[in-house]
Amino acid sequence: MKDASETLESLLKEKRSFSPPKLFSAAAHVPDLKSYQALHTKALKNPDAFWAEQAKALHWFHPWEKTLVWDAPNAKWFTKGKLNVSYNCLDRHLKTQPHKTAILWEGEPGEVRKLSYQDLYTEVATFAACLQTLGLKKADRVILYMPMIPELAIAMLACSRIGLIHSVIFGGFSAQAIRDRVEDSKAKLIITADGGYRRGKIVELKRNVDQAIQNTSSVEHVIVYQRTKHEIPFHPKKDFWWHELTAKNKNLADALPLDSEDPLFILYTSGTTGKPKGILHTTAGYLLQAHVSTKWVFDLKDDDIYWCTADIGWITGHTYIVYGPLSNGATTLMYEGAPNHPHPGRFWEIIDRHKVSIFYTSPTALRAFIQWGEKIPHEYALSTLRLLGTVGEPINPETWMWYYSVIGKEKCPIVDTWWQTETGSIMISPLPGATPLKPGSATLPLPGIDAEVVDGKGNPVPPNTGGFLVIRNPWPSMLRTIYNDHDRYSEHYWKKFPGMYWTGDEARRDEEGYFWILGRADDVIKVSGHRLGTSEIESSVVSHPSVAECAVVGIPHKIKGECIVAFATLKQGHVPSPEMAQTLINHVAKEIGTIARPEEIRLVPRLPKTRSGKIMRRLLRKIAAKEEIVGDTTTLEDPSIIEELSKSMA
Ligand code: WT7
Repeated sequence: MKDASETLESLLKEKRSFSPPKLFSAAAHVPDLKSYQALHTKALKNPDAFWAEQAKALHWFHPWEKTLVWDAPNAKWFTKGKLNVSYNCLDRHLKTQPHKTAILWEGEPGEVRKLSYQDLYTEVATFAACLQTLGLKKADRVILYMPMIPELAIAMLACSRIGLIHSVIFGGFSAQAIRDRVEDSKAKLIITADGGYRRGKIVELKRNVDQAIQNTSSVEHVIVYQRTKHEIPFHPKKDFWWHELTAKNKNLADALPLDSEDPLFILYTSGTTGKPKGILHTTAGYLLQAHVSTKWVFDLKDDDIYWCTADIGWITGHTYIVYGPLSNGATTLMYEGAPNHPHPGRFWEIIDRHKVSIFYTSPTALRAFIQWGEKIPHEYALSTLRLLGTVGEPINPETWMWYYSVIGKEKCPIVDTWWQTETGSIMISPLPGATPLKPGSATLPLPGIDAEVVDGKGNPVPPNTGGFLVIRNPWPSMLRTIYNDHDRYSEHYWKKFPGMYWTGDEARRDEEGYFWILGRADDVIKVSGHRLGTSEIESSVVSHPSVAECAVVGIPHKIKGECIVAFATLKQGHVPSPEMAQTLINHVAKEIGTIARPEEIRLVPRLPKTRSGKIMRRLLRKIAAKEEIVGDTTTLEDPSIIEELSKSMA
């Protein structure tokens, strides 16, 4: 190793491997590893030709001229092409499958709605016409702050139909978060609902909007969908009811021919400090990669019932509930509420009731299910499932094995999909009919994606050495800028390794080229000069049968520079004790070596999570080091956890 400070120690040796089931491969879009490799090699040799070929899958009003104009870090894909996202998701399916269910929705209180492609088209074209009557023009920004109801997807598709730039704000965010985004985007319109249901309670969406836009100037109108029908403030000059607007309207808006590079949406990510970043995605490139990645990774078939459990407020919901599945003409299931309402088997009940065949969720949800006990899923058949997926964080091998056996009954491949808000679509993932799986590995890059692990100088590291995860070529669904801050875009993603996109993650590749994500670079721990990623140490703690979930952090240490402190939650039926903590410390030392031996393991009832379900290690680091908690904690799912954890450290 040239420079230990630039690379990461790799500790975990996971040797299990699972080949795709024969019947699955036989029917798959990409049926074996050889076909994948051929596709990938061809794509890297001539990316322009590869993406040009893929782009035939979309409907174009006018063909493009150049596949890519690349003036790093600025990309233009499919120049001068004209197309429409809403047309690709709706109109073009009307001839072939008007009656197929497009959105299959279940509300938290239990109602079910089915919208066919014909229904969805009519709703979208009608609502788009209403937006036109309000005087909204191409490139105006529209904020959507809604519950998980079909109208959220309808509003997105209506915006994209007439060239409005949508910005969805997760319904769990506060008035302050809305205000920051209104001010940055200068949105003219907010679309919301009176309220939404979450764990049986009403979320006050409209009241939050009113509070957010006090003393702001850009917002001219608020459209309110009536979901809960409870009492809300209503301002007749500014506010419109969704049902009144649409009832008055008799027009259907045509899908406008938009430019390939016309902005499609802004999605704000909170980041770890201060100001949210407005990640901007554009029309053609985003849609193309959403389309092909959905087809490859989820291996969609005509009769699949596909369910991604994310909220549409995150990129996962944009790409893999709305744009990817609908552009493929699939049936996409949408669920409004919490996984444990009114009982912890709700997800499994939904799978059985609607015959879900493809299920895509997050490691954080899986770890909660594990904590609640496998007795619960065992009460359901889960026999319609044929493919499982995860996204959002590294999945610990033991969590993977639980998913594979308890939910998938050892017959469903698992696609562990690595990507980011910035990448727009899945970048590293198994193709379920082609790629042998290794628990905990996102496996191989999708065709056309030149992912690599490099040292501090940008040179590839040898197998099984950790380093920085980069993407070496531009790809169609890459972000184009940070809204209002192009310098930050260039700095943040393209400066560290000139000519390469820096992901902010660390990873290693094994001897077969498989990618293993080691964690965020910001979370790396340096013990006695060794750089250690968080994910492998956590996986080692979680491999003990009593542990449900774990997060490790580094805190200052006089001799070692930093030492490891682990926070862990136990499975139901296991009692925290100093002996248990010691057992776990010994377990890690034995499993992956004394270098990764935690100085301390704290057994806690739960871990601090962001609203999107990621563990907030930054906060744990402060708590472990007994530092004051300053900075932004508004992204925390439940702020009361700070006090709870601080007490546990006394
Ligand atoms: C970060 C991006 C992309 C949709 C949801 C998250 C982590 C994501 C994986 C995975 C290991 C993963 C990375 C990445 N991440 N998927 N399969 N294995 N880590 O989007 O909020 O933009 O977060 O999530 O650290 O950089 P996001």
